[in-house]
Amino acid sequence: MSLKTFSRLLFRFSLNPSGIASKRPLCERHEAAAAVPLGRGSARGYYNVGKPRYPSPGGAPHLRVVDLRSDTVTKPGPGMRQAMAEAEVGDDVMGEDPTVNNLQKTAAEMFGMEAALFVPSGTMSNLIAVMVHCRERGDEMIVGDLSHLHIYEQGGSAQLAGVHAATVATRLDGTFDLKQLESKIRHGYPDPHYPRSRLICVENTHNIQGGRVLPLHFLQDVRALADQHGLSVHMDGARVMNAAVAQGVPVSAILQHTHTVSVCLSKGLGAPVGSVLAGPQDFISRAVRCRKALGGGMRQAGVIAAAGKLALQEMVGRLVEDHRNAKTFAQALLSCHPLFAVDMAAVETNILRFRIEDSALSPQEFCARMAQVGEGEETALGQGVRVLMYPHFENSVRAVWHLGISPEDTQLAIQKMQFVASQYLKEKKQEQVKT
Ligand SMILES: Cc1ncc(COP(=O)(O)O)c(C=O)c1O
Repeated sequence: MSLKTFSRLLFRFSLNPSGIASKRPLCERHEAAAAVPLGRGSARGYYNVGKPRYPSPGGAPHLRVVDLRSDTVTKPGPGMRQAMAEAEVGDDVMGEDPTVNNLQKTAAEMFGMEAALFVPSGTMSNLIAVMVHCRERGDEMIVGDLSHLHIYEQGGSAQLAGVHAATVATRLDGTFDLKQLESKIRHGYPDPHYPRSRLICVENTHNIQGGRVLPLHFLQDVRALADQHGLSVHMDGARVMNAAVAQGVPVSAILQHTHTVSVCLSKGLGAPVGSVLAGPQDFISRAVRCRKALGGGMRQAGVIAAAGKLALQEMVGRLVEDHRNAKTFAQALLSCHPLFAVDMAAVETNILRFRIEDSALSPQEFCARMAQVGEGEETALGQGVRVLMYPHFENSVRAVWHLGISPEDTQLAIQKMQFVASQYLKEKKQEQVKT
């Protein structure tokens, strides 16, 4: 990957903490008003916590925010908060928190694994997995070059675990070429020149590649290759529940092809914090030690584990709504052809990646326009709508659907996108007339 591509990738971190590009909004009064969030009532079930609606200076609720930056922005709803408030707790480092134990048992059963461990984050979960699988200095893992583990986890496996990474090219659908994968396996051990291959990591769904679902036959092939060479397979399954829903299979049907998995509870499933690492009993026993060493022993963690359990038991079914909303938005982009391009077959789950085909409109500018309330917008749309998205690779934009985004919000985002597109094309035409 070129340096340029990397710096574009990292643009998302140059946004301010609210995720909105720092260019001045066109309509200043809304910016002032945006500081005063109000609750919003809705009939959309227990997971709706009342998204903020912002009053305009006149008092009318004219500004709506549709936050498509990530499914990590979800907030626990009343049902989840109640479960948290009522959770029985104990000291989990002593193995005495009944709610954590219950979550771990529930997760292990659901995933078809022997045991599971509740951990603070997906990043720590992946790091622990790498530490346990690659437990000798000089061990090596094979990871996709566009995997979250490789790109977005600060090289923790090298920095903290002393594990070397060999990368394999990530294809557009999140898979690898199996021949290339096999070529990365080292055979030199114990020759002192070489590290020892121990682990293959896969990511499902694939974040950077736009929520792509790994085909079951691919996982089966990877596992066969790993078995042949005595390696383990770890899945970064931060969004594996989205994959299971998209494929219409129980998650255990996916995970039968991996030795271990890390599943995030705090993304589309809506828990405020936490991931579950699952695998064989001896792997989890070692993982408990690593978690403690990394500072991830959480004492009365039942308060958050209660939310995690509810997430696993009650929030999986609704992921299909996110997938549907993402497709609806993608379809609408096609109506603005040739400004936008999207591969509909690649829109499989809740993450949408689309391209801007006009080189004069950068993803950064497009996202800034989507996040601002433009002149004439309230008249055209009946209200101001700020849609938050991230610029992505090259000329692309990423948008992520989650439980905070209803079909109605999706329609608002579509109207906003169409408004921004027509304004942009109008301005471009005017400039062409001038020159
Ligand atoms: C695929 C993938 N893996 C791991 C993580 C890390 O999760 P966390 O933010 O809980 O550390 C993320 C977060 O976005 C992710 O998308």
